[in-house]
Amino acid sequence: MDGAASGLDEIKSRYLSQIDAAKDEAAIEEIRVAALGKRGEISLKMRELGKMSPEERKTAGPALNALKDDIHGALLIKKEGIADAALNERLKAEWMDVTLQPRSIQPPAGQGTIHPISQVSEEVVAIFADLGFAVKEGPQIETDYYNFDALNIPPEHPARQEHDTFYMSRAEGDARAPSVLRTHTSPVQIRTLEAEGAPTRFIAPGRVFRSDYDQTHTPMFHQVEGMAIDKDISMANLKWVLEEFCGAFFEVEHAELRFRASHFPFTEPSAEVDIRCSWKDGQLKVGEGDDWLEILGSGMVHPKVLAAGGIDPEIWQGFAFGIGIDRIAMLKYGIPDLRSFFDSDLRWLRHYGFSVLDKPTIAAGLSA
Ligand code: PHE
Repeated sequence: MDGAASGLDEIKSRYLSQIDAAKDEAAIEEIRVAALGKRGEISLKMRELGKMSPEERKTAGPALNALKDDIHGALLIKKEGIADAALNERLKAEWMDVTLQPRSIQPPAGQGTIHPISQVSEEVVAIFADLGFAVKEGPQIETDYYNFDALNIPPEHPARQEHDTFYMSRAEGDARAPSVLRTHTSPVQIRTLEAEGAPTRFIAPGRVFRSDYDQTHTPMFHQVEGMAIDKDISMANLKWVLEEFCGAFFEVEHAELRFRASHFPFTEPSAEVDIRCSWKDGQLKVGEGDDWLEILGSGMVHPKVLAAGGIDPEIWQGFAFGIGIDRIAMLKYGIPDLRSFFDSDLRWLRHYGFSVLDKPTIAAGLSA
């Protein structure tokens, strides 16, 4: 009996030192098979128990089981140690400095994409440039005066509440200091009239902000303002320009528009414009069907707005409009949730993004 036990001791110390010396998981597995595998040394010894007398089995059985458990345990501990060491090695090798500046060079062809909002803004600019409109810009942090007062929205006007304005703190009593995130692109009307006078014809695309959040509203979104001022401009010109724009933008022969009487403090008369469309199997088609979707606000510029811009309303008149860029992007490219535009989800960007080389031009077809 003593002989058998010392035999087990030898087996145990032999395997333990092999395990100790093992360098990787493959070596561990090799030792496991040699000791505990089907034809492993310890497994074969277990089988010999059957041939022993009950007397011998009584001591050899538990001794073998203990050996098996010891080797099994040592293998597990070593395996975990090797995995930990491998992980630590990787952590040492694979790190990155997230405070580094992103590379400013163009990504390799086929990797980065143009965001649909950028693409649609360029499409809008291309169409209006073709119609003779210049492109203007204004600040995103505006004054009360440009965002509201100059547009005939006095402090007590209910439109101020409707706009869900984000206000910023400012020095006490400094009424003309920038204090709001602009709620629309209309302040660019006043800034451009002040700077350039009449006649004028321009659009002003850009970011606007309102405190609102659901499937069709995000706190930051995009509009494109349009304005045409001359001596003999009427609603008919407005209608023609908008129909031209929508036909070109949605790439349909005829975009049917519906003008609904509405109210804006800065236009008189005012109209909201819907476009005829259909929803079939989650697919949106513009120019057919029985649904209408609102895409813009418009009207003839209010005389007070012309005066605020330094233009004589007795001589000059014109129209203005404000189109929701995100809205028409959703419509044209079948994007159901506005919020997804600003999630920065790479899978979404790869799916809906545009090729860097895909510059929209009227001649080539906008989305060709
Ligand atoms: N500024 C208006 C809005 O944001 C849209 C508009 C612009 C209406 C110009 C009329 C004329 O809702």
